[in-house]
Parts: sequence; structure tokens; C-alpha cells
Amino acid sequence: MTRRPGAQPDAGGPALRSAGVRPIFLVGFMGAGKSTVGQALGNLLGWPFEDLDNRVEAREGRAIERIFAESGEPEFRRAEREALAELLAEADGSSRVVALGGGAFVQAENAALISQSGALVVFLDGTADELYERCRQGQPERPLRRSLEHFRQLYAARRPHYLKAALHVETGGKDIETVAAEVASKLGLR
Ligand code: S3P
Repeated sequence: MTRRPGAQPDAGGPALRSAGVRPIFLVGFMGAGKSTVGQALGNLLGWPFEDLDNRVEAREGRAIERIFAESGEPEFRRAEREALAELLAEADGSSRVVALGGGAFVQAENAALISQSGALVVFLDGTADELYERCRQGQPERPLRRSLEHFRQLYAARRPHYLKAALHVETGGKDIETVAAEVASKLGLR
């Protein structure tokens, strides 16, 4: 997925802003474009965008890579769960776009919290090989991106969880703005 050269996201119209719709959560595996599409979707709708991983890092005062290296995955999951609960309490049903880390929606407790909040969940999909390649080329360094074989296995194990999302969008071969516009259109927001 690429950014279209010179693409300028449209501003959300007043009718849309007054619609008072629910938060949108983007879920999917590493490299699916949750953060880049989320930012573009936020711009398109005129809604605030937040990346849950950034909130985790701010609350913990450490980069995710360091949390994994120094304290391990269970500690990261605890921090992620707490950050999500905090975000949901703050959002209180207001319009915003949130990108979740690849493992967040897989945790039953997190999925239940999101479902109870009434947020719309959107699954950004792609093949494991394409997602791996995107991660290899881009930032950040992901502690759970190891060999391609491990990546494929982890994706296969997680995909059934992502498929519980209300909307499933394929990202392969599309640029970021196209995916964002597709999400908005399929949700009836454009
Ligand atoms: C993780 C994905 C990462 C980040 C952390 C764990 C995962 O987010 O939350 O490294 O479990 O798949 P991205 O999906 O944005 O890479």
C-alpha cells in the first residue's frame, strides 16, 4: 500500500460531523496499514485519530520494543489493556478513529470492551507475505515480526479473531487514501 503522490484528503462535511456516529476501530495484522489508513480516514472524516500503541508508549514512558525486551509480552498486553480501557473511557462513544496494535483485538477482554462500547470494528486485510514485506520495508521495528514462517503462522492463528469485525476491507495493491475512502464509503460515511 502506498500514499498517492500529492493526495490531499477531503475535509469531512458539516452533515457528517453532526451525525454523531460511533468510534471506528481499525484492526488487523502487523503491516495492514492500520495507522496510515487510520490517519487518512481521520483526515477524510474530520475526526481525531489515535494509535493505541502511541498511548501505550506514553503511559509506560518506553518504546514498545523496549517494553517487550525488558518486561516481556505479558507486561505489554497488560499495558495495552489498560491503555485501551483509558481510551474507551475518554472517547465515551464520540467520533474518532483508533488504530489498534496487531494483537490487541485478539485478546478476548479487549474485544469485549470494544464491543460493549458500541464502536465499529473494521478489519484491514492482506496476505501474510505482503504484510511481512510491508513490515520489512517500514517502521517501526516489531518485536513479533520474526521469520516469515512464524509471521504466517501467527497471522493464521489470529485471522479468525479479526474476522469478527463488522467490516472486512482488502488492502492489497491499493493506496492508503483508496483504502480510507473505501472504509468511509462502506460505513456510509461518504
Ligand atoms: C503487535 C503489533 C504491533 C504492536 C506490538 C505487538 C502484535 O502493532 O502493538 O509490537 O502483537 O501484532 P502493529 O500492528 O501496529 O505493528
